[in-house]
Amino acid sequence: MKNVTSIFLNGEFLQAREAAISPFDRGFLFGDGVYEVIPVYGGRIFRLAGHLQRLEASLASIRLANPFDRSRWAAMLDRLADSAGEGTLYLQVTRGVAPRDHRFPDVEPTVFAYMQAADPEPGMQTASAITLPDWRWTRCDIKAVSLLANVLARDEAARQGGNEAIFVRDGLVTEGAASNIFLVDGGQVITSRQDQRILAGITRELLLELLRGEGIAVSERDIRAGELATAEEVWMTSSTKGVIPVVGIDGRPVAGGEPGPLFARAAGFYAEFVARFRAGEVE
Ligand SMILES: Cc1ncc(COP(=O)(O)O)c(C=O)c1O
Repeated sequence: MKNVTSIFLNGEFLQAREAAISPFDRGFLFGDGVYEVIPVYGGRIFRLAGHLQRLEASLASIRLANPFDRSRWAAMLDRLADSAGEGTLYLQVTRGVAPRDHRFPDVEPTVFAYMQAADPEPGMQTASAITLPDWRWTRCDIKAVSLLANVLARDEAARQGGNEAIFVRDGLVTEGAASNIFLVDGGQVITSRQDQRILAGITRELLLELLRGEGIAVSERDIRAGELATAEEVWMTSSTKGVIPVVGIDGRPVAGGEPGPLFARAAGFYAEFVARFRAGEVE
């Protein structure tokens, strides 16, 4: 597994080749589990409290008891993060190993996490997106490992030469296959309302906070799909990519096909916050 520097599985710290999970794990059989993806900058885990809070909400929504308290999660993740210092933590909790039956078993959950060192190659810098019908379930606020619709959507985007899919439900933009979506209209920054149709993105929340702090007008409201075509700018956000400009949608350039001026400011605020986090100045 490329760049995986350490693994935690059910109480043990292992190397990737030593880790094994039963094929009867309900994560494998049913997608019965939840997960988080958390950046690590300069050995510090970014927005950990927000991620652990969202994990608690996801676990409560699927009626799975949280196997660890916050300090145990933090200690375990710190140890994994130390194995690389810079990169991404992945964690997953599933309902455990049991004979295949839809009913909940009375077993211990499976707890799996790993640290992946940052790739020296720069990742995605701009996005080119397609829009697709959002035929996922109606609990997209749960960060569930069952991501078939998201995987199919990203694959469809790739087939069409792009790198993100923007979901549209009942004529409204919900979110990306692995991101939240922002647009700029009339100088105002707009993102979809936070409800069960979208994931409560940690990056979305931080960016809204930073923009508000800079006195930039933001609005959380329904976005009609047609607004994507007339927007001055479109951005996407995620923990692994930060803020990225979407420069094309469905084969048409967004505005001039170049990152817009408000994007440059927003990305600057975000980069500055990450730099201050690295330096231990902010949480
Ligand atoms: C469906 C979906 N929406 C939004 C996001 C962005 O969330 P975050 O900023 O917490 O990474 C992700 C992240 O992968 C996602 O998978």
